[in-house]
Amino acid sequence: MKKPEFRGVVASLPPDKSISHRAALIGAISTGETRIENFSSGADNQSTLSALSRLGVKIQQEVSQARRTVVIRSNGLFDLKPSQTPIPCDNSGSTMRMLAGILAAQPFRSTLVGDSSLMKRPMRRVALPLSQMGASVSLSENGTAPIEIRGRKPLSPIAFETPVASAQVKSCVIFAALHADGESEISEPIQTRNHTETMLGLLDPRSPETPPKIKVRGLRPLEARDFFVPADPSAACFLVALALLSKSPELVLKNVCLNPTRTGFLSILSEAGATIRTENERTIGGERIGDVVCANASLETPLRISDKALVANAIDELPMLAVLSALATGEFELRNAEELRAKESDRIAALVLNLRAMGYKCEEFSDGFAVGGREKIFNGSIRVKTFSDHRIAMSFGIASLFFDSELVLDDRACVVVSFPNFFELIDLLQ
Ligand code: S3P
Repeated sequence: MKKPEFRGVVASLPPDKSISHRAALIGAISTGETRIENFSSGADNQSTLSALSRLGVKIQQEVSQARRTVVIRSNGLFDLKPSQTPIPCDNSGSTMRMLAGILAAQPFRSTLVGDSSLMKRPMRRVALPLSQMGASVSLSENGTAPIEIRGRKPLSPIAFETPVASAQVKSCVIFAALHADGESEISEPIQTRNHTETMLGLLDPRSPETPPKIKVRGLRPLEARDFFVPADPSAACFLVALALLSKSPELVLKNVCLNPTRTGFLSILSEAGATIRTENERTIGGERIGDVVCANASLETPLRISDKALVANAIDELPMLAVLSALATGEFELRNAEELRAKESDRIAALVLNLRAMGYKCEEFSDGFAVGGREKIFNGSIRVKTFSDHRIAMSFGIASLFFDSELVLDDRACVVVSFPNFFELIDLLQ
């Protein structure tokens, strides 16, 4: 294996994608001026801002060398204006699903469309609850976008349990419930990221339930407030993998979001013996934030992940964990992760295809896969099929620094979705 040398602090991790989306959407339905410090420049978050602009929301972006600030002005819950043309959500499932919750309550027609990946992703999961709340929502025969919404003002409240572990579905229903004439109750069988409820102040710290039932009283005006976006733990995971594979002296990732619904990958790695610590932990705007420190850490034990709560918690980090475990130990196993097939690409199929191309023995299951050692060593370069999926590209981008054959990614540009300077940063670190 090659072994890039690097050390030091990485200050330029991208701001969190999930929190950036939510801050913009909350700003669009709050009364007054919302300032979002450290908003992500990733293409997905820019898709949310463009979609909101098309709907008449007033948005300004102030970009300095250090950070991006977004300022949103709105007159509240029903300030959106109809778009005369379909609203592109590009590659962003979060934009499409969460915005659908807001559009379901606006008294006009909207159509949401996306790129070729997003147009294949399942949307019945949001269409069903929104229809139950009184909106008229139609999809393609396959249950995919275009999503055509005729909103109803106000919506009816709902008692809803998410059928799949999905923070986007939960958040879509929370956004709709803010526009309903009564109290809605939303719950999920397995806890997923809770930024929407945290940012809206819906979480009752005394709630004995885990995950808690979320109660939303609709039609209450939201007062605009400011948000600060910490660094994205899903982006941090790629650099943690880099540190573990290179066994480098020290890597410090500053101001990472350490919300416990996002740090499953750190628990999985610690459980497998990798020593990663967090420092300077504090709470800003309801979110835990701190520095992630990998000092001389490595991964010696294969990762075996099947716990449903951990799978949901680490859903976006699973591709990197799989590739890391295969490279570091030759083995890996993942079960109970069928949702991974419904992401920007079918990530189970993409991982298996590329790991096999690298010579690893893989067994594919409907809900995961297992890697059982490396059976072939190829001469010459290996073409990695990314399916234009940013997390597949970054996972194999990290692998390419360590693998003994050259790995050539068929699409590097797709990282722009969540981590625009990914390749520049890893080049700098070596
Ligand atoms: C996200 C939720 C997850 C995750 C996605 C971001 C969010 O998707 O995979 O990258 O911000 O709510 P699902 O809700 O489809 O699980």
